Amino acid sequence: MSFLRSRFFQAVVVLVVSFVVLRWGIRPPAPWSVIQLYMFVVLMAVLIYVSADSDSWRAFVRPIRSTLVDPDRRHVRGAFLVALPLLLGYYAYTQAAARPQAPPELRAVHPAPPASIRFRGKEINISGVDNPLRKDGAALRKHVAAGAATYVRNCMYCHGDNLDGKGHFASGFNPPPANFQDPGTIAMLQEAYLFWRIAKGAPGLPKESTPWNSVMPAWEDRLTEEQIWQVILYLYDATGQQPRRWETAH
Ligand code: HEC
Repeated sequence: MSFLRSRFFQAVVVLVVSFVVLRWGIRPPAPWSVIQLYMFVVLMAVLIYVSADSDSWRAFVRPIRSTLVDPDRRHVRGAFLVALPLLLGYYAYTQAAARPQAPPELRAVHPAPPASIRFRGKEINISGVDNPLRKDGAALRKHVAAGAATYVRNCMYCHGDNLDGKGHFASGFNPPPANFQDPGTIAMLQEAYLFWRIAKGAPGLPKESTPWNSVMPAWEDRLTEEQIWQVILYLYDATGQQPRRWETAH
């Protein structure tokens, strides 16, 4: 049993035991990167230990050297010659092979709005309705300015002072706050659709938009009907976008 006392064998045992402890002996399981790091430290410690003096180092490399050059170790050498490329090849394969991935969740970002909503006890039509404040051309600038104030007070920290969805808190949310500069948001929506989304927020989204961990708040208890129409005016005014019109049947 002389190999039990060989330096090389001891080093291998230390490495294997360390790996087993790190991999299966820790709760909760350590991530691979941590295991790799610790195994590297153990390997370094073992190498420092076996190379502490030249006798020890020679004893350590003796089995390696004899496997590489001794004529009577021919078969072991041959086995390594086959096994090592296979192992490396397998490792490369596991790294490169396509992994099965969960299918992306299909959810409607812009679900169909309800025909009407209840807003503070009042029935408000969504379907076919335009922003009532646009009728009052003389007061339009006043409404836009009021909408800007509402926006700065309530929406800016998520949707951003540039209306680009990059508010202070935005990076903490997934899905991120809507970017109103992007033509894929308010430019393709009717104003009444925005009224519904602002009044009812994420809780008002229908089933086909879930699971949808949106943090968009429901504003119906905090903003009045007029304030919501005003902030909508502001969104279009500040971005230079035009609201989508309702298709009218002739
Ligand atoms: C706490 C962060 C937060 C605040 C505050 C917030 N929003 Fe949002 N908003 C979101 C997120 C996240 C989304 C995207 C997910 C979704 O559609 O629900 C969103 C979506 C929207 C949409 C839908 C855009 C689209 O393309 O469907 C509108 C409109 C909107 N917000 C308007 C507002 C207005 C107006 C205010 C202020 C009165 C406001 N939001 C305040 C987080 C916020």
